[in-house]
Amino acid sequence: MAKYGFLGLGNMASAIIAGMKKSGKYDSKDIFGFDTLSGKAEECGVTACDSIESLCKTVDIIVLAVKPQILPKVLPAVKENAEGTLIVSIAAGKTISYLADALYEDAPIVRVMPNINARVGAATVAFCANQFVKCEQKKLVEEMLLTTGTTFELAENMFSIFTALAGSSPAFTYIYIDALARAAVEAGMPKAQALEIAASSVFGSAKLVMETKEHPYVLADSVCSPGGTTIEGVLSLQENAFESTVHKAVLAVVDKDKRL
Ligand SMILES: NC(=O)c1ccc[n+]([C@@H]2O[C@H](COP(=O)([O-])OP(=O)(O)OC[C@H]3O[C@@H](n4cnc5c(N)ncnc54)[C@H](OP(=O)(O)O)[C@@H]3O)[C@@H](O)[C@H]2O)c1
Repeated sequence: MAKYGFLGLGNMASAIIAGMKKSGKYDSKDIFGFDTLSGKAEECGVTACDSIESLCKTVDIIVLAVKPQILPKVLPAVKENAEGTLIVSIAAGKTISYLADALYEDAPIVRVMPNINARVGAATVAFCANQFVKCEQKKLVEEMLLTTGTTFELAENMFSIFTALAGSSPAFTYIYIDALARAAVEAGMPKAQALEIAASSVFGSAKLVMETKEHPYVLADSVCSPGGTTIEGVLSLQENAFESTVHKAVLAVVDKDKRL
């Protein structure tokens, strides 16, 4: 069994580890972690390493799970101790060539962009590997990611777009759900109930798009009966630039990601 090491045990690493453990396919004793905060490994239920060096020397796969701005601090120690070890980076905006420059030219690297829905096993995850990653290594990474949700192997030049579409869009969707619920509160429904109903409705709508593969506009039209209630809401969204507001939000993320 391969040994997995998480460098950084924050939100995303703990969500991935939870997925791995829940799948029943991994033994906790094969999962290791190092974080500047002691106690994090225990919280995640993995074996604690006391340094980056010991983590690198123990595992077959290192998952770089610190914030992108912390990478320059940790990569020198990884370079020194992990030659030949498979590197998996989940850092937003950091390219494979950035990582290879900081490590070594022929480092096997898989770049991953997860999303926070990994916390409930419903992540949407992109990955791409460089030419130094062997097929079996890529399979190990994909299997690990599949325990957190759905995976897409993508060309690296699509990562900024993916980041906006799947990495950041959960935040937009949570805000949308809350906006639906707040309006329901204004109309007289208790907030907790409104949130539950709004989330369930968003969940079901996404499921219908995915399962029927019908165009979202066809589905929207099917809900708008002539002279009915829904068309009033749809026209109000259009009047208030709903779609172009969403477009701008997505493109703002793409732009920021390219500048990271
Ligand atoms: N969260 C998301 O939705 C999401 C989505 C896609 C991609 N990502 C990527 O996932 C990565 C992790 O994000 P996150 O949200 O999990 O961040 P996070 O919760 O801040 O986790 C990072 C962890 O690394 C620790 N750390 C900081 N410096 C360290 C060092 N030198 N050595 C070891 N550990 C160190 C942090 O400790 P302190 O708290 O003490 O600093 C923290 O526990 C980022 O690169 C991000 O771009 C996150």
